[in-house]
Amino acid sequence: MNNNHIHPIFDRLLQRSDKEQLLQQKALVLWMTGLSGSGKSTIAQALERQLYAQGYLTQVLDGDNLRTGINANLGFSEADRTENIRRIGEIAKLFLHCGIITICTFVSPTIAIREQAKSIIGNDDFIEVYVNAPLEVCEARDVKGLYKKARAGIIKDFTGIDSPFEPPAAPDIVVKTAEMSIEAAVMAIYEAILPRIKG
Ligand code: ADX
Repeated sequence: MNNNHIHPIFDRLLQRSDKEQLLQQKALVLWMTGLSGSGKSTIAQALERQLYAQGYLTQVLDGDNLRTGINANLGFSEADRTENIRRIGEIAKLFLHCGIITICTFVSPTIAIREQAKSIIGNDDFIEVYVNAPLEVCEARDVKGLYKKARAGIIKDFTGIDSPFEPPAAPDIVVKTAEMSIEAAVMAIYEAILPRIKG
């Protein structure tokens, strides 16, 4: 596509630091990756409330939510997941530059997909959180009944069943949700990010 006639005005807008000052916080993107049913969305909901109670402004970007709107035209092929995460990366970057603590909860199953998000958002602002629960545990939970459908062949390309999940090699934070409560996972993440978000 020819972008020769596009004239961005980034440099004439108020800067991220202006907005962080207004909000009295420092922004970052918390990128939660993990299998379906590992606890990403549940942790994000509780973490957002914890941050809100302490006076921090946040935005949660969640897979199931965004797939009902901006990403409603995407499925679960590798190409569609890559496009899903590319768009989310761009959206997360907009919130980040608005000074907002942005919590992303996407399966984001491959190293390449997460690297793509990181390169859009920027290394320094991308905190990778591995929400780690064994497949057997996620499948036993089967909160949405999707594993059962995947095993029955009703859903194709399901992560962990007939589509790969590559665990992060060096995540910034790991929470093992089969071994700890949601509250403990939330507090572990909260305490890990607190030094980074204080205004
Ligand atoms: S991602 O792979 O592109 O990052 P995303 O996080 O947006 O996935 O969406 C995952 C959610 O979609 C799951 O939590 C689950 O509820 C639902 N889902 C439906 N079909 C699939 C599938 N084939 N693989 C994984 N998740 C699926």
